[in-house]
Amino acid sequence: MATTTYIKSGLEKLTVRPALLSDIDEIHTIEKSAYSNPWSSNVLLDCFKPNYWFLTLLYKDQIVGYSIVSNIVGEAHLLNLCIGKKFSGLGFGQFLLDKTVLNCKTQECASMLLEVRASNTSAIYIYRKFGFIEIGVRKNYYPSDEGREDAIVFSLVMDQSTIDEHV
Ligand SMILES: CC(C)(COP(=O)(O)OP(=O)(O)OC[C@H]1O[C@@H](n2cnc3c(N)ncnc32)[C@H](O)[C@@H]1OP(=O)(O)O)[C@@H](O)C(=O)NCCC(=O)NCCS
Repeated sequence: MATTTYIKSGLEKLTVRPALLSDIDEIHTIEKSAYSNPWSSNVLLDCFKPNYWFLTLLYKDQIVGYSIVSNIVGEAHLLNLCIGKKFSGLGFGQFLLDKTVLNCKTQECASMLLEVRASNTSAIYIYRKFGFIEIGVRKNYYPSDEGREDAIVFSLVMDQSTIDEHV
């Protein structure tokens, strides 16, 4: 991935830190703003586990997004990547994805897997931009307004020799 393609103005004010239990209400508000079928607070709380990396993205000290990864013997599974609706399209998602991938690399994960709705064109765009490769389809994986929707499964092989800070 090129190092500067997604740097937009204001990104220098972004910071990433592990989520705290006390963040849960803010995180759940963002979850509800971004998804048609949001996770409940309890599902989010269930992600505070030792083999999970739950990161928050802050813009000027306000939580604007988060990512959740489970780590199963060196394989990272990106379970959630979310930016609050009013902050979408500003480059924040790519900034957080970059930091999330970097964290997994430094924790010696060999690969990252994720599912994404087939209709989620902006998410699919950024995963492809980051080098994720489509490896399959899970039919009727997600609930949708029309019934069910397929998930595209993407995988990223993480090369430990390319650990660097992009921003
Ligand atoms: C997907 C999500 C994380 C992206 O975050 P974001 O901050 O809005 O994304 P960014 O601004 O970093 O980048 C969006 C990119 O998609 C592109 N894009 C926007 N709409 C698009 C569309 N309809 N089709 C293709 N590309 C699109 C933008 O041009 C931008 O790329 P560029 O920087 O090369 O121009 C965010 O929209 C989100 O949280 N969505 C709801 C939750 C979700 O679907 N998460 C993914 C679950 S797998």
